[in-house]
Amino acid sequence: MNKLYIEGNKKLNGNVLISGSKNAALPILFMTILTKEKIKISNIPQLTDINIAIKLLKSLGTKIVNKNKILYIDPSTLNTFSPPYYLVKKIRASIWMLGPLLTRFGKAKIFFPGGCKIGLRPINLHLNGLAKLGAKIIKKDNYIIASIDQPLIGKYIYMEKISVGATITIMSAATLSIGMTIIENAAKEPEIIDVAKFLNTLGAEITGAGSNKIYIKGVLKLHGGYHKIIPDRIETGTFLIAAAISRGLVTCHNTEPKYLTNILKKLSEAGANIKTGKNWIQLDMKEKKPMAVNISTSPYPGFPTDMQPQFALLNSISKGKSVIIENIFENRFAYTSELIKMGAKIEIKKKYIICNGVSKLSAENLIATDLRSSATLILAGCIAKGITVVNNIHHCKRGYESFPIKLNKLGANIQHMQ
Ligand code: UD1
Repeated sequence: MNKLYIEGNKKLNGNVLISGSKNAALPILFMTILTKEKIKISNIPQLTDINIAIKLLKSLGTKIVNKNKILYIDPSTLNTFSPPYYLVKKIRASIWMLGPLLTRFGKAKIFFPGGCKIGLRPINLHLNGLAKLGAKIIKKDNYIIASIDQPLIGKYIYMEKISVGATITIMSAATLSIGMTIIENAAKEPEIIDVAKFLNTLGAEITGAGSNKIYIKGVLKLHGGYHKIIPDRIETGTFLIAAAISRGLVTCHNTEPKYLTNILKKLSEAGANIKTGKNWIQLDMKEKKPMAVNISTSPYPGFPTDMQPQFALLNSISKGKSVIIENIFENRFAYTSELIKMGAKIEIKKKYIICNGVSKLSAENLIATDLRSSATLILAGCIAKGITVVNNIHHCKRGYESFPIKLNKLGANIQHMQ
């Protein structure tokens, strides 16, 4: 069941319900290690990465009941600081267990985490941040062993590079430290704000999340609480691309327009008519061929790297020539070889690509290499001439809830095949 057959030449029209944000839910799940009291979290997306996170927490001794996208979590029985390596290596997000396990047990031992192969993805900023707060870090046989013999002490930390992951690691570890931690040059992503909001619900004292300076005043203990995960802005953007490339009209519900300001600006530039409401976004292409747009990825509120492959697809079938510059990850153009097989005219340079729009893509047998590229190739199949096969769709299931089902409701014809 790891491949999809996709009938092409489809116009995608209709309504789609956006799921909770994967990149907010993952760190928030691991932050539950910081308390011994009960927690309820709603709007949990149904994804394989989330299932792995749940398995990881259960392997540590946490009790979790999963009912209708709501998790009831009891971390009081958590009893080990070393999660199994075979689960840790499956998701990059595992690194977010390090800070919370260290503060809970005074020690943490985790395998070097895995994740999408889109670049080198070092974890030096996570480890340097923890060391600055007073942790002793040893790297041995592919394991990271962190320990403290007294509570972490709040510090001023300037992030030499803006990192979503490292900002979260430092924020989590500083929550139960002594004194004030200031993270300067912090990442400003909506997911960071959601993590801070969750921790504050449990009694943390974090201010400034969403700006480049975050203040974390250490507290003695966190309690339980309820939190609802924010909508997934990348899933939203991906469905808006589905409408744009097929010259259709799609309305995304249960989403948050303000998280997509830069994406919407680029889609308008491509010729799309966009309307927004309190929790919905509608994109109407009015049957027109899109115009190619130049993109340069950067940390939030800049253009997200996680939407870069989808926009390359848009540019591949748009009017005109465009340049896409990737500034976050070193190896995020692997999918272009698959679009080229379909007839796209893409020139690959080291840090950027040049797209010359073509009138139509043709069906092909494709191989997905990572999460966002798998969604891009599935969308390409929906508009290509003929029947496209996309292999390795396990990548897609990691980050898009029921992607083929949601697309089929918009008029696609996507079937799972052996
Ligand atoms: C998170 C998101 C991912 C998104 C990325 C950038 C999750 C699960 N993943 O990944 O979808 O594409 O943000 O928006 O939320 N870096 C270092 N040292 C470090 C950490 C990062 O050099 O210790 C570098 C990275 O290689 C990259 C840049 O910093 O070049 C940004 O990475 P970061 O923001 O940390 O991305 P992730 O948290 O891994």
